[in-house]
Amino acid sequence: MKRVIAIDGPSGAGKSTISKEVAKALGFFYLDTGALYRTVAYYFSKKFPQCNDFSSLSDREIENELTNIQIHYDCDKVFLKGEDVSLLIREPKIGEFTSQLSAKKVVRTFLLPLQRKFAELYDTVAEGRDMTTVVFPDAWKKFYLDASLETRAKRRYEQLLRLGKDINFDIALQDVLERDKRDSTRKDAPLMISPDAFYIDTSKMSIEEVITLILKKVAESA
Ligand code: DC
Repeated sequence: MKRVIAIDGPSGAGKSTISKEVAKALGFFYLDTGALYRTVAYYFSKKFPQCNDFSSLSDREIENELTNIQIHYDCDKVFLKGEDVSLLIREPKIGEFTSQLSAKKVVRTFLLPLQRKFAELYDTVAEGRDMTTVVFPDAWKKFYLDASLETRAKRRYEQLLRLGKDINFDIALQDVLERDKRDSTRKDAPLMISPDAFYIDTSKMSIEEVITLILKKVAESA
């Protein structure tokens, strides 16, 4: 395994923006594992257009479909069987389906080797809910990014506004609450703070401050 900087945390803590910039600054590969989960969810949304809740699919049904999924990921873009789905997977509905499907052990088991493969090839900044605990427990560096519920809901609200969505703050707050609940209470790889991860509360910090702090910590102990 090459050097892995594993970055965990709940949605809205700033993981994506920060991980991408840290990877760029260090010349590391940027692995957005949420994009892989989202691509799986996008596949299921197309395959079962009538389905509104994928929690109800059985492991057998999911497993049968997983064999058809070919994902190609290259830091900036993600492809499903050759189709560029990078933007399509960002739709709020896909986020919801992703949260349902990522709670399934079969899905997590399917994506595990793919995630680890990148770290065999490249020095990697790996971002996602179980990076420090399950996927890369022996990561070179570990960080946990957090923020208050209000801050994360505000960020989500602003993000959806930027995407031109019809949204109000209360819906964004509800959305973050529900996702937190689902992500932290699921049986497999729930969101957890690894005791050896460096904890950063980003609520009152700018993106630049968080990036600078991570780069400082990496340099200190390199
Ligand atoms: O980080 P994101 O918003 O793109 O993640 C979308 C969903 O995928 C979220 O509900 C958590 C889930 N996810 C996961 O379970 N494990 C990961 N390593 C990454 C994302």
